[in-house]
Amino acid sequence: MDAKFIAFSLCSFCFLPLFLHVAYGDLSYSFPEEMKRGSVIGNLAKDLGLDTGALSNRRARIDTDGSDKRYCDINLNNGELIVADRIDREELCEEKASCILKHELVLENPLELHRISLHIQDVNDNSPQLKDDKINIEIQESAVRGARFVIEEAHDADVGQNSVQQYSLKKNDNFILAANGNTIELVLDKELDREKQQEINLLLTALDGGSPQRSGTVVIHVTVLDANDNAPVFSQAVYKASLPENSPVDTVVVTVSATDADEGINGDVTYDFGHVIENVKKIFSIDRKSGEIKVIGTVDYETTTSYEIRVKAKDGLGLSSYAKAIISITDVNDNAPVVNLKSLTNPIPEDTTAGTEVGIINVQDRDSERNRQVCCSIQQGAPFKLVPSIKNYYSLVTTGQLDRELVSDYNITITATDEGSPPLSSSKTVQLSVADINDNPPVFEEQSYSAYVSENNKPGSTLCSVTARDPDWRQNGTVIYSLLPGEVNGAPVSSYVSVNGDTGVIHAVRSFDYEQFRSFKVQVMARDNGSPPLSSNVTVSVFVSDVNDNSPQILYPAPEGNSFMTELVPKAAHGGSLVSKVIAVDADSGQNAWLSYEIVKST
Ligand SMILES: *[C@@H]1O[C@H](CO)[C@@H](O)[C@H](O)[C@H]1NC(C)=O
Ligand SMILES: *[C@@H]1O[C@H](CO)[C@@H](O)[C@H](O)[C@H]1NC(C)=O
Ligand SMILES: *[C@@H]1O[C@H](CO)[C@@H](O)[C@H](O)[C@H]1NC(C)=O
Repeated sequence: MDAKFIAFSLCSFCFLPLFLHVAYGDLSYSFPEEMKRGSVIGNLAKDLGLDTGALSNRRARIDTDGSDKRYCDINLNNGELIVADRIDREELCEEKASCILKHELVLENPLELHRISLHIQDVNDNSPQLKDDKINIEIQESAVRGARFVIEEAHDADVGQNSVQQYSLKKNDNFILAANGNTIELVLDKELDREKQQEINLLLTALDGGSPQRSGTVVIHVTVLDANDNAPVFSQAVYKASLPENSPVDTVVVTVSATDADEGINGDVTYDFGHVIENVKKIFSIDRKSGEIKVIGTVDYETTTSYEIRVKAKDGLGLSSYAKAIISITDVNDNAPVVNLKSLTNPIPEDTTAGTEVGIINVQDRDSERNRQVCCSIQQGAPFKLVPSIKNYYSLVTTGQLDRELVSDYNITITATDEGSPPLSSSKTVQLSVADINDNPPVFEEQSYSAYVSENNKPGSTLCSVTARDPDWRQNGTVIYSLLPGEVNGAPVSSYVSVNGDTGVIHAVRSFDYEQFRSFKVQVMARDNGSPPLSSNVTVSVFVSDVNDNSPQILYPAPEGNSFMTELVPKAAHGGSLVSKVIAVDADSGQNAWLSYEIVKST
């Protein structure tokens, strides 16, 4: 700084390029702070009109009033007032608008005292300063446009124009600056969105009015605090899943997921079902935290083939959103076919012709598609078959002639098998009886019967018995015996023998005489009680055997007249000559008729 800038005045802020003599010899200099040591402030000798030589003679010196700190000195050779120490206005006067240092020039012989006022002018040697390098502020994202946030003002050690004059905020999306006197405020110009930008750095510059201008900057670090301004958002509007029926409990069907852009409790998503029917709650559960939809009950395709579940995601403070879970149940072959007997003719007569429909069967399977395709079969060996009819109906039809006497009951097992994998089957046994038809005549055990009886038998004695069998049922198989009409020796056969109708035992009605007849034949009929009845005939031959019931009879000599026989015998007859011949007969036969003769008495 050059001396020509030095002013000398009574009034501190009136810089004049002249200096003036003052009545009491007071001197005033105005100069900028921070001049180098030795810089010239002014010329005391000139200003006081002193001879330079007198300065040293009069022992001129600069003194301070009450302080031993001297900021200037006098060059005794030329009378210049020079800077002796660093003069920092800010240190000496801080914020005072005028900064005046008081010194005194002392001259001796005679003693002279001149007050020197040094007006220290401010130099813009300090930049505006903000308290910290960084200002942290937190702002709710819900803050509305126009909201104001006070920022601590900047400080500049300089004064006047050199102190802080204005502020500027680096252009940004959200804030503008409002400075009003000492109050600086950030004004929210566009609302914040934490989910877009969580932290914002603003650059605030404070400018002073000096020349050259100095500035100070600070970063304002804005942390945007969350507000629950976001509802949870599902990753899909519709979640589709397919689930086999009968899936075990705890099977995870599908996991729904929603995110919430908010943070903390605002972004804490929990899941629940929306409005669903009670049944759904018995079958599925949703995990509040994970969103897993799990099976908790019985999943039955036959009951419900698909579920549509409203799912809700809620954040901590109650914003919700909804999605849909569509769960399609897939069929599993878990139902065996069911065989129903719709009608049955039972019993069926044994004369039913082959091909007659005797029953109608219906087969049902609750599963679907292949799992409900059913094939129906019947066990081998019985004279029946299944004939497929409309839809899942079958006719049970006879395939051959029935014979009750051979098989009277059939247990017909019908098996239905579906085409699932593995297949399921079930069977039903139909009991079928064959009703009797009188198709068998009684049959005698023997081709013919013979009875042997001794003559003179007692009337009523048993001769023999006949037996006929009839395999038919009840009256159709009940055998009744009877004699067929006929004659023996011109008399009705019934006068000789009788037959017990129930037992077939044949009795003699009279006593037989071998000598009258030795044998005879009768016809016995066995008849069943059917309608019409069937019968068969058999011949019973009765043989009468001899009993010695006749005495021999002497035919010659004739027994009539007297009992003496006269035979003439010649005198000359030799011994051994034939005299006579006795002839006798016996009506019996065999041994009973063998005769022997002997002379009972002779003279
Ligand atoms: C048929 O089944 C019934 C009952 O199970 C049984 O009593 C009967 O003996 C069976 N009949 C045949 C011919 O197998
Ligand atoms: C005997 O056979 C006839 C047909 O010949 C039949 O109508 C009747 O029902 C049968 N009787 C019995 C008890 O089976
Ligand atoms: C048995 O004899 C009677 C009488 O002669 C006759 O009507 C019937 O047809 C005969 N039965 C048989 C099976 O020959």
